Amino acid sequence: MSDGNATSGYDVSKDPIFQPLHFKSGLQVKNRLFRSNISGRFDNFDGSGNYVRLNWEESFAKGGVGCIISSFTPVHVEGRIMVNYAMIDSDDKIPFWRAIGERVHKHDCKFIMQLSHSGRQRDDGGIENRYRKALSSTSQTDYFHGILCRAMSKTEIRGVIDHFAEGARRAKEAGLDGVELHGANGYLITQFLSSGINDRTDEYGGSLENRARFVLEIIDAIRQKVGNFHLQLKISAEDWNDALYPWYKRGNTLEDSIQVCKWAVEHGVDALHISSGSLFPHPRNPAGDFPVREATVNYDGMLASGVRTRFNYAVFKHWLLGPFFRWWWNHRRGIPYNEIIKGISLKDATAIKKAMPENIPVLVTGGFQDASVIRAALNEHRVDGVSMARTLVANRDLPHIFASGKDVAEKPCTYCNKCLLNDIKHPLGCYDVTRFNDDYEAMVEEVNSVYKPYPAQY
Ligand SMILES: Cc1cc2nc3c(=O)[nH]c(=O)nc-3n(C[C@H](O)[C@H](O)[C@H](O)COP(=O)(O)O)c2cc1C
Ligand code: SF4
Repeated sequence: MSDGNATSGYDVSKDPIFQPLHFKSGLQVKNRLFRSNISGRFDNFDGSGNYVRLNWEESFAKGGVGCIISSFTPVHVEGRIMVNYAMIDSDDKIPFWRAIGERVHKHDCKFIMQLSHSGRQRDDGGIENRYRKALSSTSQTDYFHGILCRAMSKTEIRGVIDHFAEGARRAKEAGLDGVELHGANGYLITQFLSSGINDRTDEYGGSLENRARFVLEIIDAIRQKVGNFHLQLKISAEDWNDALYPWYKRGNTLEDSIQVCKWAVEHGVDALHISSGSLFPHPRNPAGDFPVREATVNYDGMLASGVRTRFNYAVFKHWLLGPFFRWWWNHRRGIPYNEIIKGISLKDATAIKKAMPENIPVLVTGGFQDASVIRAALNEHRVDGVSMARTLVANRDLPHIFASGKDVAEKPCTYCNKCLLNDIKHPLGCYDVTRFNDDYEAMVEEVNSVYKPYPAQY
């Protein structure tokens, strides 16, 4: 690993990382570093936004990323994964998102909203959803938490397509720079796309063309509603639906996803954002450890969510099964721990980029925190930009660190995934105490720093 020292003779103006990226939508981003979607419970129970999210998003803009792609933003209350996430389900939410856009624009940073629907992958949908089965392409529960769901009727499908289009209209009216469809990581759009999940027999299931119909109709509806407004699709290049339980179907292959991306481009998306996995979290996404202790401390809040949550909790707590699960998680990633973290989906993204027209930029997520790795990917035209989540949670100012000529931060993200497991209950932040010289109080202070400053009017 590099020691993070500045390379002598480094010239930021010649660094591909700091060249602007132009999209055919007209959007221009100042560099190739995107803050990837990262959800935290910062907002109000009813899905209205909170000042904490303003602080949170601004901290990344100050850190130097060219564009922030928002966290999971539900287009309807039925589609939320967790309470306390800001939504875009009604016009009265527009002023809050306008304030977010203005905050990050001050730092020459763009903001793209991730339009999302959980489908059956719902951690805690709140009281509104407690006695309602989640909507999905299927009536089969998800195989990890066992969340109850039912296959959507065609009227419901049309309704959800309209929710997405309305979400895009609101994002445009809020003055944001674009929208991203969350078609990755196991949420509703994946539940339609994936051959490992979608078991419908109507025109929304069966062949790849039928499974892609839902997302393509969403793209069409958005285009019709907002015209030329930046629209990108986040998609899992490979499902790896059998990662945790090898007896399940593997799901979509890279070839399937290349075809879906081609259709999405024909229907008018401006860019693609490449991820991995038909489930979240997944051994390959966010690629890293499964911290069993954090799971036992935090997973109890989800016990009522699914029919398998109690079983999972018992496994995590067990003195032997807990460590076994952790070993299994790391083993099933299929690639040795040390090799994989750097750009785990880069190979898939490269294949997708090769198959797309020149004017469709491809972004990739997963394990980017070395300038040399990012620079090589850009120089070799493997992708057009990278998105970073945990690596920026650990070091918000990573873009400034790169711009000073350093290859890595002094205290890089360790991919321990403690942020992920704590996120179920606690504020999102870095929970790896080793990064704070084992000073627990310093770690808590840093996590809580997002609550400051208070807004002046309180
Ligand atoms: C706590 C946490 C929350 C996340 N929330 C989202 C989300 O709301 N939407 C999404 O598409 N991906 C989400 N992700 C995935 C990240 O955007 C990213 O793709 C993934 O973590 C790999 O990037 P990294 O190695 O830089 O963390 C989340 C990841 C973490 C760790
Ligand atoms: S807790 Fe910190 S070090 Fe661990 S994965 Fe999250 S950001 Fe990285």
